[in-house]
Amino acid sequence: MKVKFFILLFLATFFVQCRKDNTSLPVTVAVPFSATPYSINYPFFWSKVPILSPANNPLTVEGIALGRKLFYDPILSQNNTMSCATCHNINFSFTDSTKQFSSGLHGEVGKRNAPPIFNLGWFTNYGVLTHQFFWDGGASDLESQVFGPITNPIEMSETLPNVLTKLKLKSEYPTLFKKAFGTDSITSQLLAFAISQFERTIISGNTKFDQGRLINFSNFSPEEMNGFITFTSEKGDCWHCHTLAPPSSPLETDFGLDFSFHNNGLQKIFTDSGLARITKNNGDLGKLKTPSIRNLVFTAPYMHDGRFSTLEQVVDFYDAQAYQGSNVDGFITKNPHPTGLNLSSQEKRELILFLKTLTDSSLIVNTSYSKP
Ligand code: HEC
Ligand code: HEC
Repeated sequence: MKVKFFILLFLATFFVQCRKDNTSLPVTVAVPFSATPYSINYPFFWSKVPILSPANNPLTVEGIALGRKLFYDPILSQNNTMSCATCHNINFSFTDSTKQFSSGLHGEVGKRNAPPIFNLGWFTNYGVLTHQFFWDGGASDLESQVFGPITNPIEMSETLPNVLTKLKLKSEYPTLFKKAFGTDSITSQLLAFAISQFERTIISGNTKFDQGRLINFSNFSPEEMNGFITFTSEKGDCWHCHTLAPPSSPLETDFGLDFSFHNNGLQKIFTDSGLARITKNNGDLGKLKTPSIRNLVFTAPYMHDGRFSTLEQVVDFYDAQAYQGSNVDGFITKNPHPTGLNLSSQEKRELILFLKTLTDSSLIVNTSYSKP
């Protein structure tokens, strides 16, 4: 009840602030605190695709600052040595260095490669699917995703009650929660709210490709242009899943259309059941979340299990190694072996040069996202 009451007051604050210059508005609500609304600075070409926060967790300057501090604070782990940033390292575009699998607190190794964290706010925008985060869609929104790594015994291995106790005892946190949410009571919900707010602000929109959108890609070399054409033509046919056109463009995945998880022919035997783990539908076996292909130069190794360490291996795979099983996506099986995509070595090289135009080096030096 308390939380609900507080949220109502919170929204009231917003309402009042949004209407600030309307002097005739009668302000009858006693506003308990005032957090500063935050507006996202969108890359100009995505301004028509707003990031929508859940109604009860709007972005505020104080909430984002708190989330950023928590993201980098090892206090969230059992022995206070591991933070979210341990595995989502800004220097590697928020992936876990060059590791195939991350090590948990006690040295155990997981089975999936840590994905990057950027442009995730758009995933809650479309509301088409409930499975949005993790390689198999195991979390439906950013807020609920947060609890996974904290409590996972092979990651941070902590309990939520312990985390909350530790936060309450650390001098600065009660004040910071109060500033962000207007309450002294630190709850797991508010912890998740703050971290999600920070994650929603991590935006990558400054690649050569992004810049090229303005000037008809006149900044591309002839090789990059050829690679772009291979990517978007029927020959390479990458774009059906790694979409570059609106509304999916911020993600470089096809999220927002009706099929964002695909079996791209990686697994002959299903060592990772993918989306089927969540949906219990055999037709979803081996379907994994289509990852962003932005910032690949920082995010190696590749695929859910980090099996490929180079882009050359990735392109060779799509060219002629993808399995052709019945559960594999039609965009993969339409180019049957032995020829496959039949790319020449020059076409492969150009395709990789194009993929590298999706590099946003400004993200990894952005001081709004680094350790506070
Ligand atoms: C021990 C390493 C590790 C730690 C610590 C960790 N993560 Fe992760 N994270 C991963 C791995 C591995 C995955 C992929 C798991 C999967 O898909 O099954 C992942 C997935 C995610 C995703 C999903 C991204 C997507 O595109 O679907 C988000 C968001 C995320 N982590 C945020 C966090 C936050 C926030 C924290 C801290 C509370 C955190 N992680 C702590 C390793 C880690
Ligand atoms: C049928 C849909 C589909 C098509 C077509 C497709 N991909 Fe993918 N791509 C995926 C999925 C799904 C994954 C993740 C699969 C996994 O990890 O099991 C992926 C993963 C990748 C990755 C790894 C990214 C990372 O961070 O791990 C790269 C790079 C990539 N694809 C590039 C390409 C290129 C280049 C093409 C065209 C030659 C292409 N893809 C065609 C669906 C597709």
